[in-house]
Amino acid sequence: MDFRGKDIISIKDFSKETINYILDYAQDLVPYAKGEKYKDILNGKVLSSLFFEPSTRTRLSFESSMNRLGGKVIGFSNPAATSQMKGESLADTIRMADSYSDVIVIRHSQEGAARLAAEFADVPVINAGDGAGRHPTQCLLDLFTIKSEKKKIGKNKIVLLGDLKYGRTVHSLSYALSVYKAELSFVSPTSLKMPREVIDECRELGVEPTQTSNLEKAIKDADVLYVTRIQKERFPDAEEYNKVVDSYKINIELLQNAKDDLIIMHPLPRVTEIDPEVDKTPHALYFKQAFNGVPVRMALLSLVLGGKL
Ligand code: CP
Repeated sequence: MDFRGKDIISIKDFSKETINYILDYAQDLVPYAKGEKYKDILNGKVLSSLFFEPSTRTRLSFESSMNRLGGKVIGFSNPAATSQMKGESLADTIRMADSYSDVIVIRHSQEGAARLAAEFADVPVINAGDGAGRHPTQCLLDLFTIKSEKKKIGKNKIVLLGDLKYGRTVHSLSYALSVYKAELSFVSPTSLKMPREVIDECRELGVEPTQTSNLEKAIKDADVLYVTRIQKERFPDAEEYNKVVDSYKINIELLQNAKDDLIIMHPLPRVTEIDPEVDKTPHALYFKQAFNGVPVRMALLSLVLGGKL
């Protein structure tokens, strides 16, 4: 498969065959992600890391991926320190990054910003999250985590919990899990239900998600519980946020009725939705999931830059 020069904007741009290929390649890269092996296949390549929104995992794991493959990183994580503050447009910022580097990774608060960036860049653009839109690299690392732990992606009952309205990770993941025909259950406060267009995408792929606010019942026979944070920053009205904050919490008591091999995932950051006491249980997969961002992003960078192992 030839990925050289390709943009990565939405998981919907990938076939199941392509996703499987990326996940298999990421598996080969795990020893390199852990620093147990080293090969500078991206020597001489430069990544522009343009983070207009806060990030810990996505930004650092992209930087780690580039460094571990011998490449270099330029960029910013604080747009207030860039010429955007002087009124420079996103298009012009992208034109500059395009001329200084070989690949651009962008996170932005505006849905569609990554696709716009791709129109102004000749080098490949990777979407690191665009507002409440999509987060394709998170989706791939989520699929990688499920496959690594469950040995399969389809034929699992997967509960997506939390802010399903604004959560870009669950939008991308619902689509991708439907490609694999997983059984989906959406659990959220009524005001944060999964958008209709995402449910329609699942249906078009032959999957009919169930929707409920009864978490206890939903997790009883679940194989995967994917928890998300209620994202204060996405609410146009603070009062609406206050109505739903703390509407669910994963704790040891709740897990008494869950299957022994239930895995709990979370894109992180978490705030109060998972009790830290859950971290010590075998259910907690979220920190390993965050590590999986490194082999998956190594695979993507290596493929779009044509420096395959
Ligand atoms: N999962 C995720 O996107 O985390 P960050 O916001 O820390 O990058």
